[in-house]
Amino acid sequence: MVMKLLAKTAEDRYQSALGLKADLETCFDQLQGSGKIANFIPGKLDKFGQFLIPQKLYGREAEVAQLLEAFERVVGNSQSKIELMLVSGYSGIGKTSVVNEIHKPIVRQRGYFIAGKFDQFKRNIPYAALIQAFQELMRQLLTENSENIGIWKEKLLEAFGQNGQVIIDVIPEVELIVGKQPAVPTIGSSESPNRFNRLFQKFIQVFTQKEHPLVLFLDDLQWVDSASLKLIQLLMTDADCKYLLMIGADRDNEVNPAHPTIQTIDKIKQSGALVNNIIL
Ligand SMILES: Nc1ncnc2c1ncn2[C@@H]1O[C@H](COP(=O)(O)OP(=O)(O)OP(=O)(O)O)[C@@H](O)[C@H]1O
Ligand SMILES: [Mg+2]
Repeated sequence: MVMKLLAKTAEDRYQSALGLKADLETCFDQLQGSGKIANFIPGKLDKFGQFLIPQKLYGREAEVAQLLEAFERVVGNSQSKIELMLVSGYSGIGKTSVVNEIHKPIVRQRGYFIAGKFDQFKRNIPYAALIQAFQELMRQLLTENSENIGIWKEKLLEAFGQNGQVIIDVIPEVELIVGKQPAVPTIGSSESPNRFNRLFQKFIQVFTQKEHPLVLFLDDLQWVDSASLKLIQLLMTDADCKYLLMIGADRDNEVNPAHPTIQTIDKIKQSGALVNNIIL
């Protein structure tokens, strides 16, 4: 009964509290009668009077395998330790769903899987999807034990030096791990994106390590902002960055060759970085 309650897809779980109650009553009656519970199939009396659309994904085994192969390339013995995998297709074709399928297998292999999506109406907020993804990562880290959190703190402080506040200004959750940081000198608005990007590179490298590779899923790239594109390009062409699989999803019906995303991807390809594409 517990396994049924925990089933991965919603349609395999109990559909109503009454169904669960009926099974509990079966257990109770048997316990009272004979002192033990004989095997029975749970959910026999579970009925739900509504038409449900199943959550299960159909016919995407090949694409899921391709995504996991990309992860294997990044962690395995191959030359390339960093890869950009693009998942493209018409709106609603199932891009987000297929990428989310690899979440569990990645975590099982001690990888971190984080995701953020760009928003049509938040294009004026730089780094929106990256911020969302790393907020999630900070929350994941905070669920680890205090010894581990202490280790993360040490590693992050070493990467930041005196400049941790630059990252905290953008991703406030980082402060929960490293604590209050000294104020940083203000610099010109033309220089400050560079300072942020340089520090972000060091920040992400704390998490992209052989023992815990990072999968960063950036959804809805058709709505990416230009600051994020610059940072993505920087990360993907950084020779020091390893054990990183970046997955980007985009509606290919909304991006033409002149779209800044396509231009950035071309530049990343030209730099020799591994870029692959799954078209749904
Ligand atoms: N292979 C599949 N089998 C069953 N249902 C699917 C499959 N692929 C997608 N769906 C369902 O179709 C809907 C749309 O999928 P999803 O949101 O992943 O599309 P998308 O390509 O990311 O869309 P968008 O371009 O709007 O971001 C979801 O409800 C999802 O559960
Ligand atoms: Mg989507």
